[in-house]
Amino acid sequence: MGRTVYVNGEYLDEADAKISIFDRGFLMADGVYEVTSILNGKMIDFDGHMVRLARSLSELEMPTPETNDEIETIHRELIRANGLIEGLVYLQVTRGAADRSFLFPEGVKSSLVMFTQVMNLMESPTAATGIKIISIPDIRWGRRDIKTIQLLAPSLGKMAAKAAGVDDAWLVEDGFVTEGTSNNAYIVQGGKIITRDLSQDILSGITRSAVLRFAREAQMDVVERPFTMTEAMEADEAFVTSATTFVTSVIEVDGQALGDGKPGLVARRLREIYLDESMKSGT
Ligand code: PDD
Repeated sequence: MGRTVYVNGEYLDEADAKISIFDRGFLMADGVYEVTSILNGKMIDFDGHMVRLARSLSELEMPTPETNDEIETIHRELIRANGLIEGLVYLQVTRGAADRSFLFPEGVKSSLVMFTQVMNLMESPTAATGIKIISIPDIRWGRRDIKTIQLLAPSLGKMAAKAAGVDDAWLVEDGFVTEGTSNNAYIVQGGKIITRDLSQDILSGITRSAVLRFAREAQMDVVERPFTMTEAMEADEAFVTSATTFVTSVIEVDGQALGDGKPGLVARRLREIYLDESMKSGT
């Protein structure tokens, strides 16, 4: 017996879970997803992920597969059935199965798949050490605010980072950093936390929104504007945020060590606040 997963109304052993070869997620990457982190068996910011899912679906005119209540019930059942304490729940909605055509099919039910993944999030290998990043061109499409399953560009980015002997890549467009391959990007300069403002150029991270709120509550200075890699290389510190990395320090950018080459104070403090608050508010 492997994991219990959810596919279109059924809870199944992962070996028995099947999707049609005509599924538009498979044929055209016509789908969206969410990743919710689980700490102590509880979901972190579930409501935020549901709001973003609804927006992704509506931007793509994709039918909602289930009510939010039902999706919440499925999350809970998967966490329970798999005894998940720490890790994530992955959710994917695609436009469903239909004969291959560029046009959206009519009257087809969207497909909903969910599964759990065990992950060491709190004490992840990079939590204490921080990560090293390189910069690469952002070759993704123009609607990065929609969380689609077209992940080949970030995948190529992470492979380029691996080949360069570092942990991840920041994406650069028109001279400015958009975001990380699978996270939002920040620098800290002169006590100011600088991160790109929201637009169609980046994903509106659920972790980003919580971390910026906590930073402002802690009287930290937050500036939402694009920044360059030159600024990043001269920054006091840098960090990334996402549902799976929370707040993780960046200790080196394009071969340049930041500060003393160790995780910076601001990032460490924000990670601590984020984890404290998440433990309290998890559902
Ligand atoms: N990635 N930007 C991009 C391009 C992302 O793929 C992600 C998340 C984020 C951060 O969003 P959030 O804070 O809501 O996780 C920003 C997920 C974790 C993934 O693809 O695994």
